[in-house]
Amino acid sequence: MQDIIAQLEAKRAEARVGGGQRRIDIQHGKGKLTARERLDILLDPGSFEEYDMFVTHRATDFDMADTIIPGDGVVTGWGTIDGRLVYVFSQDFTVFGGSLSETHAKKICKIMDLAMQNGAPVIGLNDSGGARIQEGVASLGGYADVFWRNTQASGAVPQISVIMGPCAGGAVYSPAMTDFIYMVKDTSYMFVTGPDVVKTVTNESVTQEELGGASTHTKISSVADAAFENDIETLLEVRRLYGFLPLAAGQKPPHRPTDDPLNRDDISLDTIIPASANQPYDMREVVEKIADEGDFLELQKDHAGNILIGFVRLGGDTVGVVANQPLVLAGCLDINASKKAARFIRFCDSFEIPILTLVDVPGFLPGVAQEYGGIIKHGAKLLFAYAEASVPLVTVITRKAYGGAYDVMASKHIKADVNYAWPSAEIAVMGAKGATEILYRSELGDKDKIARRTADYEARFANPFVAAERGFIDDVIMPHGTRRRVIRALSTLRAKKVQGPKKKHGNIPL
Ligand code: HXC
Repeated sequence: MQDIIAQLEAKRAEARVGGGQRRIDIQHGKGKLTARERLDILLDPGSFEEYDMFVTHRATDFDMADTIIPGDGVVTGWGTIDGRLVYVFSQDFTVFGGSLSETHAKKICKIMDLAMQNGAPVIGLNDSGGARIQEGVASLGGYADVFWRNTQASGAVPQISVIMGPCAGGAVYSPAMTDFIYMVKDTSYMFVTGPDVVKTVTNESVTQEELGGASTHTKISSVADAAFENDIETLLEVRRLYGFLPLAAGQKPPHRPTDDPLNRDDISLDTIIPASANQPYDMREVVEKIADEGDFLELQKDHAGNILIGFVRLGGDTVGVVANQPLVLAGCLDINASKKAARFIRFCDSFEIPILTLVDVPGFLPGVAQEYGGIIKHGAKLLFAYAEASVPLVTVITRKAYGGAYDVMASKHIKADVNYAWPSAEIAVMGAKGATEILYRSELGDKDKIARRTADYEARFANPFVAAERGFIDDVIMPHGTRRRVIRALSTLRAKKVQGPKKKHGNIPL
């Protein structure tokens, strides 16, 4: 028996070194951790249970039968984060560059199936040269098997992808179908075709980092939700994100008791709105002042800064926040902001996460580029996502709520549950200046008259009371009491149930 146990230990030790010490040293030399070191940071100490450690590839072409490495380039299994179950896979770049073989794919599929069956999230740590070149179509089939499961899992269990090295070619489509993508700065990249192919086809010269590095995907493409300095920071941030999420559809996110009083006033909110309607202020500050302990996990913060999205806790419970940001483009809705917020709303709606919407929006961004780019269709995504959402929706209008954007930003009309306005709210078809210039075009030459007309319009419409008279908002609240009022509103909505019409699924304007 001792011999057998020793054999098992030897086999395990062999699997644990993956592609060998030389390749581990190269990995470390690039500032990257190994697949197993990463799991040690991601998961609670001692919680990892590994599956399929002894799986090997079946390929024989290109002398592959001579190079068998147990585990076949991916470490899979389950563990816990803050005591809660999670299924994981971590690609091992030291084994054939983390490339995906038929059996490597089967290992990933196995844990995805278990995650769906047992109702727990999947976190994938990606570090791979893509399809295992020696295996050809078997590898492509493996990718498609993973893609299919990504789609099945979507909306059933949260899926998080962490890009910690190369992720290229069709391989990018697995992360792309997951709910969140985090990247590591300088050591990770994602692209469908690399710089060499780009040069050949379009004659554009671009580096790997410019084409698909973390900066590109967090700022320009919005493929990634956040990027961090190194492997450790990134994995700790994944733990933080996971802490806001439920295990599966139909389950509530974890409740985290807070010492932050539920009825805490914040007097500074009473003076945060500047005297002039054209002056910006930082909506992020409003979010932080409302949130438990000021903790706001903001996503996509370097993309479409005119809208903020992310998670906070209110009274210990996860709430998704969508908020116009007057500091950028005056908080206008544009194509990028609409897409950014729409997808986030759909995530929250899939997983029973209530949404708090903070509104200060002068309208949709005008311009040829916006129209040619399809703002009609993209803006409709946001409208559709809100209107379709059946989770608790609480809205606070802090200042402007103009035009179509008023309707879109979780208004009562598209079935938000509780709608509040600060006394500084202006709910109207448009700003007073624009309105008078259209209504009194013939008087434009007379500056005094126009100023009087503008003042009249402001007095009549630049306030929350016209909407309040109609019941379009439920109350005009004191800014300092926003946290208390929102928490109380959410407490009434815990058992909210909405029965929509029978159908297979809606057809969101993609
Ligand atoms: C098999 C691979 C591999 C692959 C890397 N390796 N990629 N083995 N299949 N796809 C092996 C290398 O042979 C090497 O083995 C080790 O991994 C490390 O690779 P290096 O090239 O030394 O590392 P580095 O210089 O860091 O370059 C990393 C890399 C490069 C940029 C990823 O390896 C590369 O370009 N690989 C090919 C990428 C690719 O074209 N993949 C197919 C994409 S198409 P040794 O033994 O020397 O350590 C695709 C389609 C998916 O993925 C379709 C889904 C529908």
